[in-house]
Amino acid sequence: MDNTNGIKEILSVKNNLSNEAPIGVFDSGVGGLTVAREIMRQLPHENIVYFGDTARVPYGSKSKSNILRFSRQIIRFLRTKDVKAIVVACNTVSALALETVQEESDIPILGVIAPGARVAVQSTKNGIIGVAGTEATIQSETYTKIIRQMNPDAVVIGKPCPLFVPLVEEGFAKHRITEEVIDIYLSDMRKTEIDTMILGCTHYPLLRSRIKAYFGEKVHIVNPAYETAMDLKKILFERGIENRSERAAAYKFYVSDAAEKFTRFANGILTYDVASTRLVNIEEY
Ligand code: DGL
Repeated sequence: MDNTNGIKEILSVKNNLSNEAPIGVFDSGVGGLTVAREIMRQLPHENIVYFGDTARVPYGSKSKSNILRFSRQIIRFLRTKDVKAIVVACNTVSALALETVQEESDIPILGVIAPGARVAVQSTKNGIIGVAGTEATIQSETYTKIIRQMNPDAVVIGKPCPLFVPLVEEGFAKHRITEEVIDIYLSDMRKTEIDTMILGCTHYPLLRSRIKAYFGEKVHIVNPAYETAMDLKKILFERGIENRSERAAAYKFYVSDAAEKFTRFANGILTYDVASTRLVNIEEY
């Protein structure tokens, strides 16, 4: 069954999971916190279990078979936490493995690409859309395919920007070197007629103001995280599985390596105070 958001589900989620069950959110590392942050904002009552695969990041340069294997392990781990829905915050996983894991799942699994593509198609006036992402995301052309399903005449110009990820992770988002790297990667795209640009990687929203300033007012910058959280909200309410409890939401964070570094990064971008992050041996799942 395919709904308008491109979210495939096999079975209804009316299983034994309670409305208070958490949402699983996962990414190759810290970047998916930009999506978790948006879910916290839009769905303040939902509990969240976040997993960042910090031992195996980056996914953006890995093969499809490995990305699928990693995703299945993480989903198996999240299911041990009785999650009622899963958000794949990672663009690379959403581009390469989402359809397969959705088909294997009896709970809703959402990715970030369809929501980002949809808002770009709604925003563009001239139908020329830029997408920046990892090597794997751009090579897969998943954004292009989904955008063209929504608007067959759209022109999509993709550009891999792999250095953006380590720059963000090393805290260089505001450093002048990042300005240079933005120019190296995106100067060709700036010469085109794009009027909309998708930040097709979890880390890029943390460079949003830099990228926005680089392209100027005529280019609308799309952060898929916002629309993804809206889609999640819609699904939870449609299925009647939203958390109706008045208790403050509980957030738990797990990683496969470097838990303290993750905690520091998380506290830099979330308004929530992350006290600790737990280590998981994800290869066991
Ligand atoms: N999370 C990845 C993405 O959104 C970026 C980092 C990586 O390459 O793993 O595509």
